[in-house]
Amino acid sequence: MLKEKMLNALNEQINAEQYSAFLYLSMSAYLNDKGLPGFANWMYIQYQEELTHANKFFNYVNERGGKVEIKAIKQVDIEFESVIDVVEKTLEHEQLVTSLVNNLVDIAISESDHATQSFLRWFVDEQVEEEANVQEILDTLKLINGQGNGIFMLDREMRQRTFVDETQAAG
Ligand code: FEO
Repeated sequence: MLKEKMLNALNEQINAEQYSAFLYLSMSAYLNDKGLPGFANWMYIQYQEELTHANKFFNYVNERGGKVEIKAIKQVDIEFESVIDVVEKTLEHEQLVTSLVNNLVDIAISESDHATQSFLRWFVDEQVEEEANVQEILDTLKLINGQGNGIFMLDREMRQRTFVDETQAAG
């Protein structure tokens, strides 16, 4: 059985992951509108991934006998300044999510909840990967100044990304 503080924090995280999903869906729409289908595809896959993160938390809370509470998702940004702005905001957002995950780990430790600590390890590792991937894209974008032939080539590369449900692979 999950303790109340842990349960509440996990429920908040379901909402945070769903918010992340809709933020990235909104970014995907913006990038499509700006004629960057590859970036839009990459961001749409981010959206799909975030839904799997929310569902992983959802299933875990259920498995531990807790009651999931689905809450309203706050309005996401729908306008951005440029593709660089989108990717910068993605990195900032992932850094925020990392701090949320770290906070969950802190609660699990303080509650001596070993099962939740073990469950959260997947997310700790995932956040390292997420931040590194976004940082790499941002570095490349800055190198080409977000325009010209470079952005065209990068957009084509971003189109190659396909969706894999990593929450299933890692158990
Ligand atoms: Fe679910 Fe991108 O963190």
